[in-house]
Amino acid sequence: MTNLADLNIFNVKIATPAGKTPSRSLKVFEGAISIKDGKIISLTQALPARYEMDGKGMFALPGFVDAHTHIPFVGQRSKEFILRAEGKSYEELLKNGGGIYSTVNLVRKASVEDLVQSAQKHARWLLKAGVTTFECKSGYGLNKKDEIKQLKAIKELSSKIPQNVVATFLGAHAVPPQGEKAYLLELKETLKFVKEEELAEFVDVFCDEGAFSIEFSYELLRYSKELGFKVRAHAEELSGNGFAAMASQIGAVSVDHLLKIKENEIPVLAANKTMAVLMPATSFFLKTDYAPARKLLDNGVYVALGSDFNPGSNTFYSPFFIIHLAVNHLKMSVEEAISAYTLNSAYVLGMSDKVGSIEVGKQADIILLDIPSLDHIPYLPTEETLKIVFKNGRKVFENKDNISW
Ligand code: NIG
Ligand code: FE
Repeated sequence: MTNLADLNIFNVKIATPAGKTPSRSLKVFEGAISIKDGKIISLTQALPARYEMDGKGMFALPGFVDAHTHIPFVGQRSKEFILRAEGKSYEELLKNGGGIYSTVNLVRKASVEDLVQSAQKHARWLLKAGVTTFECKSGYGLNKKDEIKQLKAIKELSSKIPQNVVATFLGAHAVPPQGEKAYLLELKETLKFVKEEELAEFVDVFCDEGAFSIEFSYELLRYSKELGFKVRAHAEELSGNGFAAMASQIGAVSVDHLLKIKENEIPVLAANKTMAVLMPATSFFLKTDYAPARKLLDNGVYVALGSDFNPGSNTFYSPFFIIHLAVNHLKMSVEEAISAYTLNSAYVLGMSDKVGSIEVGKQADIILLDIPSLDHIPYLPTEETLKIVFKNGRKVFENKDNISW
């Protein structure tokens, strides 16, 4: 009976974007998901399977894909949070040697194992919130040795957790004491090593006031592309310097944050099919403006969502809460927000042929939600509605609600 599926989830409402390219809408239908060897093999007919599971009318969605996190890191910055609550700004703290620099001091002292251990804890949190694929970045080393250490930790993390992990080199996260000019030379050397050792697929840069200049960022991304990296940028989070359009023109796969993006840049992103990765939890955490998502979407730009989970500017990581913010503050529709947190983020990470939708041939990364309608994701944004997480067809989390009273 080799044709037997491994698992069949029947009596389930499937809600998923379709295909391998960015989407704004979902297909919603009653079905049965048959899984074999970690992949989805049928959605239409319930194939005979070794295990049968009654979906009890629950919603099945693709596992969430977080397109932007700052895992791995160690330590915490709760004092900064309180200072901001009392009125200080993120930029002020960064300028005075806090912010990113304070996490750099801790990460430089940490071992690969320390970083992996901390990242494993965060990966567990993400899994329990339905995230089955996520991006990791370096960026808390700011020198060759400690940036490489972070990338090695990402590689090790990926062998120890069920989720797919995609690595990004963010050596240009904050300007080190030697200044941008000297650092650019050092980064170019590091990049060659990262490429040879295949430690990252993407290169990212923080181009903003208080971080790197446009000239530096442009040259870094241009050089990275030349070496064969895919490139992305933290662009126009704090200041409207026009870098989103510049990065788009050199072929960045995404430009991220975009709170201050100018109207005339939007057609450039649309024409080049550059994804806007928006992270409304950072706006919420820092009490800033939200990105102009509606303007982007209405002018033909595709949007992906991510957490930006990090110890300084945002500690929220739950797609449930972030979809709430996307609907309530970014004015995205529920279907746009779910597409943005699944297929579109998978597309940014170059994984949309494998994950991001519930379709035959894709990895069986599926979450089961006990909700009466999809509106309940933003309306009641608690992970308590998430009952089961499957990764490659294997049940990796179940919310058994085991309270003893
Ligand atoms: O995306 N904008 C720059 N980097 C992060 C913040 C990281 C940190 O503060 O540690 C961000 O918000
Ligand atoms: Fe970020």
